[in-house]
Amino acid sequence: MNRIELSAARAFKGEFSPPPDKSISHRAVIFSSVAKGRSVIKNFLRAEDSISTVNALRTLDIDIKDTGDEIIVDGRGINGLREPDRVIDCGNSGTTMRLLSGVLSGNPFLSVLTGDESLRQRPMSRVIVPLRQMGAEIMARGDDRYPPVAIRGKRLQAIKYTMPVASAQVKSAILLAGLYASGVTEVTEPFQSRDHTERMLPAFGAEVRIENLSLTIRGGTELHCLEITVPGDFSSAAFFLVGALMLKDSEIVVRGVGINPTRIGLLSVLKEMGAEIEISNEKIISGEPVADIYCKGGKELRAVHITPEKIPLLIDEFPILCVAATQAAGTTVIRGAEELRVKESDRISAIVTELRRMGAEIEEYKDGLDISGGKSLKGTVVESYNDHRIAMAMAIAAMIAKGKTIINNISSVNISFPTFFEILNRLTI
Ligand code: S3P
Repeated sequence: MNRIELSAARAFKGEFSPPPDKSISHRAVIFSSVAKGRSVIKNFLRAEDSISTVNALRTLDIDIKDTGDEIIVDGRGINGLREPDRVIDCGNSGTTMRLLSGVLSGNPFLSVLTGDESLRQRPMSRVIVPLRQMGAEIMARGDDRYPPVAIRGKRLQAIKYTMPVASAQVKSAILLAGLYASGVTEVTEPFQSRDHTERMLPAFGAEVRIENLSLTIRGGTELHCLEITVPGDFSSAAFFLVGALMLKDSEIVVRGVGINPTRIGLLSVLKEMGAEIEISNEKIISGEPVADIYCKGGKELRAVHITPEKIPLLIDEFPILCVAATQAAGTTVIRGAEELRVKESDRISAIVTELRRMGAEIEEYKDGLDISGGKSLKGTVVESYNDHRIAMAMAIAAMIAKGKTIINNISSVNISFPTFFEILNRLTI
């Protein structure tokens, strides 16, 4: 078992560029693979999840080269994928499996998608239901609930679909299937989730229209190749921003980070908590807003109330937000967060159990939790459940805890984890 031992920090100081955005990396390589011609992706995230997507597309006979500098994808158009001669392994990545399910539903061959132990417990009926309505032959283990997922792609027809949960993965799967459908597919979500797909697909030539929470895509349009630069990942930067806020003499600058409004719900929550955060140097890179974020520690933090519509905008920042809440005066209330139970781990139960071990006072609910803040944390042995975001949140909690913290089970964590510790070491004084 892999474990790491950490001691408290006095402060975070300095500047860094976070690793490339994971969600945008997945989309860039998937869309390039079904576009016609040579696409070039700069600043692609080379971590387990996005590499799972690259390998899956290679299994579908797409030529993808990594020059070390750039990823070069030779797409053959929307009908250019070939039947794989083996099962497609999506590793730990829900995004890989769900987005590819959409693409493969429109491809006239058999494919089977599987993944690691964690991914094989994650819900797939949310994509199977709409894709089947569009005409795909698609099924999964446990009454269509869990991977492996088997798909025989068919001629699809457009549907109008209202999603029961806000999910960018499901929305993207339906839009991608919509590319193959005859007619105009419409999808509506209950709350706004991240919008990278609907920003990037039109740049490849797809006809996408957006009206509030509804999106339409016209089927049958060929995509053309593109050059894309992936911005820095706000979700990776978030850990250091919260760390800096909680450590009194901290002052950090995060350079070149994506500030897409559908991703930075945590920033407005932290500001509401009293944090000192400033955004500068705003620009647009490959259709995504990017900026530098300055953050100074030492401000008194206040508890907040997080309502359901805010959850999708900070979905991956839930673990680190909970760490911040342990240091805020008053009781932070988070509700409408049941989606967190079906991520790489049950993140509600994981964070409640592990932060309690460190001395936090937390009440767990089916769809969220209450954290009574202002308690000092103590170092102890904690678990990461093989979930990278739980491991990183616990590592930041360790920075403010008294004594040493040992994080167990960090062996199979993915997203830029070595980079995380590299940055952590560099900033810590
Ligand atoms: C992602 C969407 C989110 C997020 C995940 C990546 C994406 O999932 O939690 O880490 O790239 O579309 P849901 O949209 O399913 O909640």
